[in-house]
Amino acid sequence: KKTVYKSVCLSLALLVAVTVFQRSLTPSQFLQAPPPPTLEPQKAQKPSGRLVNPNSFWRNPKDAVAPTPVASRGPQTWDVNATNCSANINLTHQPWFQGLEPHFRQFLSYRHCRYFPMLLNHPEKCHGDVYLLVVVKSVITQHDRREAIRQTWGREQGVAGPGRGAVRTLFLLGTASKQEERAHYQQLLTYEDRLYGDILQWDFLDSFFNLTLKEIHFLKWFDIYCPQAHFIFKGDDDVFVSPTNLLEFLADRQPQEDLLVGDVLQHARPIRKKDNKYYIPGALYGKASYPPYAGGGGFLMTGRLARRLRHACDTLELYPIDDVFLGMCLEVLGVQPTAHEGFKTFGISRNRNSRMNKEPCFFRSMLVVHKVLPAELLAMWGLVHGNLTCARRLQVL
Ligand SMILES: *[C@@H]1O[C@H](CO)[C@@H](O)[C@H](O)[C@H]1NC(C)=O
Ligand SMILES: *[C@@H]1O[C@H](CO)[C@@H](O)[C@H](O)[C@H]1NC(C)=O
Ligand SMILES: *[C@@H]1O[C@H](CO)[C@@H](O)[C@H](O)[C@H]1NC(C)=O
Ligand SMILES: *[C@@H]1O[C@H](CO)[C@@H](O)[C@H](O)[C@H]1NC(C)=O
Ligand SMILES: *[C@@H]1O[C@H](CO)[C@@H](O)[C@H](O)[C@H]1NC(C)=O
Repeated sequence: KKTVYKSVCLSLALLVAVTVFQRSLTPSQFLQAPPPPTLEPQKAQKPSGRLVNPNSFWRNPKDAVAPTPVASRGPQTWDVNATNCSANINLTHQPWFQGLEPHFRQFLSYRHCRYFPMLLNHPEKCHGDVYLLVVVKSVITQHDRREAIRQTWGREQGVAGPGRGAVRTLFLLGTASKQEERAHYQQLLTYEDRLYGDILQWDFLDSFFNLTLKEIHFLKWFDIYCPQAHFIFKGDDDVFVSPTNLLEFLADRQPQEDLLVGDVLQHARPIRKKDNKYYIPGALYGKASYPPYAGGGGFLMTGRLARRLRHACDTLELYPIDDVFLGMCLEVLGVQPTAHEGFKTFGISRNRNSRMNKEPCFFRSMLVVHKVLPAELLAMWGLVHGNLTCARRLQVL
């Protein structure tokens, strides 16, 4: 440890010496020079002169580049500790409402209930310098998927590369959607969380339509507990992800950008066929097409955009499809999601039986591939990271 400290000091001393030499300044002139222009505007606003005091300069060499501490940004805790939200009975007498399918009636009755208490929380996950926060939408019963992810693409890294912070992983859960599952699975989940300490759980039912709740709860959580993280990867628990390719892609991105990148759909139309999972009645969404949005299977965004999205989403009524809802929030901000070839949230080939969907060389060149179950994920991970010879590196990055 001492040697590391010494070499850090030595290289800093060298840096100062070289700079002083290049600028032909005397050391005292150097110390009084204004902060270098590379500092962000936010930091520039702080009383300048961090470099003026030689003591603080040497004692805290990291301070000058550390992210701005999060000050005066409201409560630093989850401020909802009771669920007191009853069904909206105003709707029940309206004919259009009575004509809807039961799950839409349930969605609409509780649409105004936006925030629920936390059952499992891990603020400590975001201590320190977090470069990439990986969050995975999961449900209480899918323990095997979480296990496979922990062994593969969800594995945490102390550093994401030279000069970059850590990669941390969290799973986002609600409560069991079936009454009979609740007691047993909740106990198992608590145990799992004690082992791994990587579960965020909120007190709402984990149903398909409540995925939008998961979205806004995560954005709020992020803004409170993790606002300094540079980037976020958010995805499903049945995808294949290449962290190496994600980090390579991020290498020339700035956390200050308003960036959301994924498998982007333009002019997607609401589905009006009743037997489809994504069916939306005209009473719920009247327009002919959705704003551009990224498939929820997996996308990347900057921490800055996530924090802005939290407030944008708070201005909208909840929409039952989570990725479309996020597209609506982006529209409020006037931010266009960026499409990228390496995000295949509908599989590599839309033809399920295509051999390409099982081809390791394709997986190696992608960032995200849907839909991969635990056994396939483990097998594919082994192939991609094993002794694999591909004809050429596919140029998608
Ligand atoms: C939240 O909990 C605190 C203390 O545990 C209590 O004083 C407060 O009234 C609670 N708030 C709500 C909205 O229930
Ligand atoms: C929940 O809210 C209702 C009306 O808003 C109120 O009458 C009731 O006392 C509340 N219950 C709790 C447990 O806070
Ligand atoms: C129901 O209607 C009343 C009166 O219009 C309104 O004050 C209340 O907020 C409505 N409830 C909900 C949950 O929207
Ligand atoms: C979402 O979760 C809340 C709280 O558990 C529940 O009351 C509501 O019915 C759920 N909504 C749907 C559509 O499942
Ligand atoms: C790795 O691949 C090379 C070339 O295809 C082969 O000769 C070698 O035996 C393989 N090694 C292992 C451990 O499979």
